[in-house]
Amino acid sequence: MAKQNAVVTGYGFYAPSRVVTNLDLEKMGVGTSDEWITTRTGIKERRFASDGETTSTMATRAARIALERARLRPQDLDLVVLGTCSPDYLFPATACLVQTALGAERAGAFDVEAACTSFVSALAIANGMILAGSARNALVIGAECLSHLLDLKDRTTCVLFGDGAGAVVLEASNASVGVESAVLHADGSKGDLLWVEGGGSRVPATNETVAQGKHFIRMQGGETFKLAVKSMADAAEEALAEAGVTADDIDIMIPHQANVRIIDAVVKRLKFPEEKVFVNIQRYGNTSAASIPIAIAEAAEQGRLKKGDRVLLVAFGGGFTWGASVMEWWGVPIPDRREKTIVERAARTVEDVLDKVRP
Ligand code: ACO
Repeated sequence: MAKQNAVVTGYGFYAPSRVVTNLDLEKMGVGTSDEWITTRTGIKERRFASDGETTSTMATRAARIALERARLRPQDLDLVVLGTCSPDYLFPATACLVQTALGAERAGAFDVEAACTSFVSALAIANGMILAGSARNALVIGAECLSHLLDLKDRTTCVLFGDGAGAVVLEASNASVGVESAVLHADGSKGDLLWVEGGGSRVPATNETVAQGKHFIRMQGGETFKLAVKSMADAAEEALAEAGVTADDIDIMIPHQANVRIIDAVVKRLKFPEEKVFVNIQRYGNTSAASIPIAIAEAAEQGRLKKGDRVLLVAFGGGFTWGASVMEWWGVPIPDRREKTIVERAARTVEDVLDKVRP
């Protein structure tokens, strides 16, 4: 059998309809302003989940669009991998909720938690499983409901984050080079610079931890900013080298959307042409694990991502974690999937018969 690569055959995103503008936050009396948020972050508005919406419901909506585009039935999925740091529950995994909502009855399902690097991490795992032959396809999702983890009295965090979900279908194919590299890194010694301290096994939820607001996101922004710039630039260079390409070979860079100043600094460090960088933070804020797959889907819908384009993804997040990936964009269903399956099945049948009749 020819070597199989993993290619994206479908993509989709979902952003909740509730728009929260900088002006809305200004009016809440948290001591912020549209001017501060815009100049410090590039964010103009973000989406917050409406009543009843959660990480899994948003993920399911994005996933359905991605499956539809890939023309893949949920029951034919081998794997659902979902990146998030705002799961519906500590367990069961949000991926399992999505798997059952979709009716992906054959699929294995698990979550990946690497904060804003979760999607790139999930993609690396799914790619590895497809290359290893243990899955033929995977639904890879990044989804967050961060508004439920925000302290709306903490201006240093509540203006930054938003909700949403993005998904891609990754499938084995020998038609393209597909995912060409995936690098992941972490430094757990700095975990408390960006975290939700309470609610886990070390600081279990009690009336006291809730009163202290330990179930909210807390961040040391300045320190995070500096590390994000260096780490994202380093990871991008490493992913390019691993793929055997240079920045000149990249058609579009899709960075994690945490802060437009971080993106600008990374781009400058890499000496990458600004016009090849996709930015949508102004409309969604930082949606953590969802930011890259939402940006992928928007870029593709806007025609900025075309079949054969080489894409660079780069992320940084809590943990700290960071990573990058280079891939050749496919973005359409595998045309001969059905015929190939029939041919493969027929070939297997012939082999079975021959095995039985061979002496
Ligand atoms: N409105 C008005 N003033 C504010 C606000 C606000 N929303 N937030 C902070 N300030 C104030 C601060 O209190 C401080 O005031 P002081 O000087 O009186 O103390 C002043 O503004 C400057 O604060 P800084 O934190 O130094 O502002 P900075 O320019 O660093 O911007 C920011 C803060 C936007 C958070 C930036 O540091 C940042 O983007 N950090 C990185 C975020 C990131 O990449 N996170 C990783 C991914 S997220 C994930 O993994 C879940």
